[in-house]
Amino acid sequence: MKVTLIATAKFGLETVVKQEVQALGFEEIVVSDGRIEFQATLTDIPKANLWLRCADRVLLKIAEFPAHTFDDLFEQTTALPWEDWIMQDGKFTVNAKSHKSVLKSARSCQSIVKKAVVERLRTAYQLDWFPETGAEFTIQLALVRNSALLTLDTSGIGLHKRGYRADAGEAPLKETFAAGLVKLSYWQPDRLLLDPMCGSGTILIEAAMMGRNIAPGLQRSFAAEGWPTIPAEAWAQARQEAQNAILPSGNLQLQGSDSDLASIEIAKSNAAKAGVADDIHFQVKDVRKLWIDQQFGIVITNPPYGIRLAEYRELNSIYIALNKMFRKKDGWSIYILTADKKFPDYFKRAKPNRVRKLYNGTIQTNYYQYYGRKPPKS
Ligand SMILES: C[S@@+](CC[C@H](N)C(=O)[O-])C[C@H]1O[C@@H](n2cnc3c(N)ncnc32)[C@H](O)[C@@H]1O
Repeated sequence: MKVTLIATAKFGLETVVKQEVQALGFEEIVVSDGRIEFQATLTDIPKANLWLRCADRVLLKIAEFPAHTFDDLFEQTTALPWEDWIMQDGKFTVNAKSHKSVLKSARSCQSIVKKAVVERLRTAYQLDWFPETGAEFTIQLALVRNSALLTLDTSGIGLHKRGYRADAGEAPLKETFAAGLVKLSYWQPDRLLLDPMCGSGTILIEAAMMGRNIAPGLQRSFAAEGWPTIPAEAWAQARQEAQNAILPSGNLQLQGSDSDLASIEIAKSNAAKAGVADDIHFQVKDVRKLWIDQQFGIVITNPPYGIRLAEYRELNSIYIALNKMFRKKDGWSIYILTADKKFPDYFKRAKPNRVRKLYNGTIQTNYYQYYGRKPPKS
């Protein structure tokens, strides 16, 4: 059965999610703000959920229509074949958001959609009361500029929850975001990658999973696994294929350090849970005392964001140390995620080749990109 899926993405990561969708072999891809829409079959839902590294969720598109009044919303929603998806005993909730639309109240829209779906199912199943004891369905309504998009969430918990992070250090990056930073750096598995302020190790763990071709969702479950419409074999087969695709350890050069011992312990434990403990070398080290002797490599890191004056002083000394370390090493590409706009004043090797605006949660940050010389082909 043909379906339309939507991978949702954080602002600034749409291009990398589009590339991931393409790499999985999906077609007719349409990109808009935060949305990557593509054509698939019902049995592709497991593959999309298991493999997308940078997307937040995978939604199944049910319909999109103009809605200027509550009547529009109710009538169009009742006209949809919800019984094709939601079984008699299905438990369903509705989430709604409204942006730049006449129907401003997300709460009212939510209850209208809920009423409309109940009405539809009541007629379809000839029931007055629903036990809601079966599979769970989350209907999402996104009303943007008076256009209503109705979807079913196939992922459940956000895709950033891979299952390897029981512990998080100070201000960890979301796994999907860290994967996006790696993708934006053009790192390839044969290149040395260093995170000298690695905290709980998210960037390196995500790189290791990419390098070993480990599907990010292999250790977790998804909402649509409980749906009767998707055969259990489709999930089992996708999981088996992902298992078979894993590459052996031993070929990656990933190095992480942090001045905080507790963070390094967390990073090691997370890497072990992700199955990549042997792929990353972690050590406790102040970045100001780090010594680099390789001529080529890639740094991806997010330094602490200074809040107090003492921290500002320490931050400046970190920036100065990074500048000293890489000033004469033009074979290194440097990628720094920070909310501190002063960073380029200290890192003087060159002007950044590119500055991307990205949101780390709600914090607006810049991703400063300094491209290095490529290593000679061996
Ligand atoms: C924003 S956090 C990095 C979070 C990390 N990307 C993650 O996902 O967990 C910044 C890290 O810089 C570390 N740090 C602060 N000062 C440092 C220094 N002088 N040398 C090395 N690491 C330092 C902190 O211990 C903290 O773990």
